[in-house]
Amino acid sequence: MGEGVLNRPGSGVPDPSAPRADSPDSSSLPSPAAEGATPAPPGDLGRGFPRVQGELTCRGLSLGGLAQRFGTPLYVYDAQGIAERIRRFQEAFQGVELLLAYSVKANGNLAVLNRIGLAGAGADIVSAGELERALKAGIPASRMVFAGVGKTAQEMERALEVGIHAFHVESEEELDVLEDVARRRGVRAPVGIRVNPDVESPTPHHYTATGHATSKFGIPVTRALELYGTAPERPHLWFRGIDVHIGSQIVAVEPYLAALDTVLEMVDRIRAGGVELEYLDLGGGFGVGYRGEAGLPLERLAAAVTDRLRERGLRLILEPGRSIVGEAGVLLTRVLYRKESGGKRFVITDAGMTELLRPSHYGGWHRVVPVVHDPEALEATVDVVGPVCESGDFLALDRPLAHPEPGDLLAVGTAGAYGFSMASNYNARCRPAEVLVENGRPLLIRRREEVDDLMRGEVIPPPTPPESGDDTP
Ligand SMILES: Cc1ncc(COP(=O)(O)O)c(C=O)c1O
Repeated sequence: MGEGVLNRPGSGVPDPSAPRADSPDSSSLPSPAAEGATPAPPGDLGRGFPRVQGELTCRGLSLGGLAQRFGTPLYVYDAQGIAERIRRFQEAFQGVELLLAYSVKANGNLAVLNRIGLAGAGADIVSAGELERALKAGIPASRMVFAGVGKTAQEMERALEVGIHAFHVESEEELDVLEDVARRRGVRAPVGIRVNPDVESPTPHHYTATGHATSKFGIPVTRALELYGTAPERPHLWFRGIDVHIGSQIVAVEPYLAALDTVLEMVDRIRAGGVELEYLDLGGGFGVGYRGEAGLPLERLAAAVTDRLRERGLRLILEPGRSIVGEAGVLLTRVLYRKESGGKRFVITDAGMTELLRPSHYGGWHRVVPVVHDPEALEATVDVVGPVCESGDFLALDRPLAHPEPGDLLAVGTAGAYGFSMASNYNARCRPAEVLVENGRPLLIRRREEVDDLMRGEVIPPPTPPESGDDTP
């Protein structure tokens, strides 16, 4: 598949972009996959990104056209897909009063947050930066919960000033600081303790498990119960709820129910002690299908949770991130070069760990497929690697792929969560642009960074003269 194929007008798919070159297919470069097998046609990238006449699309727009117009690497998000996933939560949990606090860390683009807020969701935030982002995007503070093990007093001040729904406190010392801040301001700080329920959560990587006793997150059950018991002596703290989050990319219902049972038992004991908790926050972490599979059976979880909360008159907070935006985003990247070394084949792309950290950081597996299917291309097993100077810089390892040519476009699936939000400027690389496809229109929601952006805030001071008497050579 050559650049000519890539630039072929998009197979009947409306092109949203500037005119695309229509050059003949390039078949002059020898294919290193000559002995490879002809691949099965690649699939699509799930709901929202179907393949139409061989070319990947998003809601009727050709992804090739978007790459042509906005450049690569490029994140593309499907607004309808995001809205549908929010609706799925709202419908599944309609039997209970629900605050859907979208986890901003998954994808904090202002436009994405804005649409999520318009769909009725709130925000789970972990820093003053996320708080300001969510506010700017129009999400009311009253729909925000503030988690994280290291909130500073200044962050607490600001969150109290704007009136967030609750702080989720993760240590005794943090609770003391929050109490001080609230006392100084003459207010009551709404608070829930994040409990460490000591459950093993089957997450694909141990970095994303948070519910076991040795994790840094939450307060052990016994100590948390004692802290709720101090409520009557702490007029500046409003013990409003209780919180648990056991990890991320969990596809089984059982670990949630184990954590829920632990926390519900706590709620009963805390209420018996006279502290009238209003809500239970079950966290996020609901798994999605990176390989096209179904992910966590949300409706089954909802049925079990709803009954147990209703009988206690508890409101429910959920903090989904990945399950709202993950499958609604793809990363487009262009092939720069190919090479062979040590019996391996490498495809070098213009995106790598700086654009999508999950493969190298968590061993995350993402589908990587050609944007335009070339029935002639031969399949080879390749490593798809980025330009960053790290051996750990890759998008996919040992992956059968219709062997692409320089200039070809690849799409990385399920990249809407923890994609751009974990992107970095390592190697002084500019972070990519982001496009939201909404009602058939491609909206640029973040321009591509430029080198000047990278140096903003840095200063080169004039060389400092040595202090008098300094005999340093
Ligand atoms: C406290 C908390 N809530 C919610 C989430 C969101 O998890 P996910 O994006 O897997 O739903 C996280 C993820 O790290 C988290 O730490």
